[in-house]
Amino acid sequence: MEASRIGESIGFTLDRFIKNNQDQFQYANGELSQLLRDIALAAKVVNREVNKAGLIDIMGPLGSQNMAGDDQQKLDVLANIRFTRALKKGGEVCALISEESESYEDLNNNGKYVIAIDPLDGSSNIDVNVSIGTIFSIYRRISKVGGPIQQADILQKGAEQVAAGYILYGSSTMMVYTTGYGVNGFTFEQSLGEFFLSHPDMQMPEDGKIYSINEGLANSFSEPVKKYLQDCKDKKMTARYIGSLVADFHRNLLKGGIYIYPSTSKDPNGKLRLMYECNALAFIAEQAGGVATDGKNRIMDIEPTALHQRTPFFVGSKKMVKLAESF
Ligand code: AHG
Ligand code: MN
Ligand code: MN
Repeated sequence: MEASRIGESIGFTLDRFIKNNQDQFQYANGELSQLLRDIALAAKVVNREVNKAGLIDIMGPLGSQNMAGDDQQKLDVLANIRFTRALKKGGEVCALISEESESYEDLNNNGKYVIAIDPLDGSSNIDVNVSIGTIFSIYRRISKVGGPIQQADILQKGAEQVAAGYILYGSSTMMVYTTGYGVNGFTFEQSLGEFFLSHPDMQMPEDGKIYSINEGLANSFSEPVKKYLQDCKDKKMTARYIGSLVADFHRNLLKGGIYIYPSTSKDPNGKLRLMYECNALAFIAEQAGGVATDGKNRIMDIEPTALHQRTPFFVGSKKMVKLAESF
């Protein structure tokens, strides 16, 4: 950020930013603002717990699996509880879709929003002190407020998101979100307990040099993906893969790059989940000038048919995703 812009944004808390920009929301009556503040509050609580990992008994596996068959870590479950509780107390959300629950959860029948979350992304990195995250997508409820939740409320495509974002528990903790009017990033100041605007109007470089993919699986990628990776090597690009989607995405958002989780022979739809991983990052990428596809189609145009649906995911700098697609 230029020095002059740093000056402009110093002291701008997330709270004040949300209030000042409330008129940008399509349905500006304060509820979505409150919902974003509830998410920020849960993020602070989870941040505190993430930072204590190692000192108290919250690392390691819980000994259970989520519906997708992934081993649940203690922090996966704890983060899910923290976010669910904050959103339930807030009262703005009628239904919550989470990676950690098989079905959606009814929170408040009078709530006007539906939320999909990956409470803790990058679980395999918890025990080794590597960046992890939280991802969320917010939708407007379609059915009548007060009545029962309908399938149509739950299975909305990404293009219907009214807001989306992520929290990155990294070398510093950040919240990055969009309401469809650009992308803004806030850094958490531990001693004050506040998020401050640190990255106003984030733009993803149009092109980049970083490619992020689990190349250990390369033998099971399709030929076009293999060819694209060879092209990256021929061009002496830089390989960077953390294994926490949020962290890999965030780096590529700032520096320019592409993240790929393609279909593999074992998982024809890839690994990542459309509703609480890909849609949110696709919305942010597009709002920052980037692109997100499944290799052919725009991610946000995919009509979901199941809560935990997976999709191949290509996201990042416009020129890089377009080039990957051309293979
Ligand atoms: P989660 O921890 O929420 O289950 O997500 C893990 C995801 C994602 O964060 C990451 O990019 C990807 O899994 C890594 O998968 P591989 O280990 O197969 O590369
Ligand atoms: Mn995840
Ligand atoms: Mn997760």
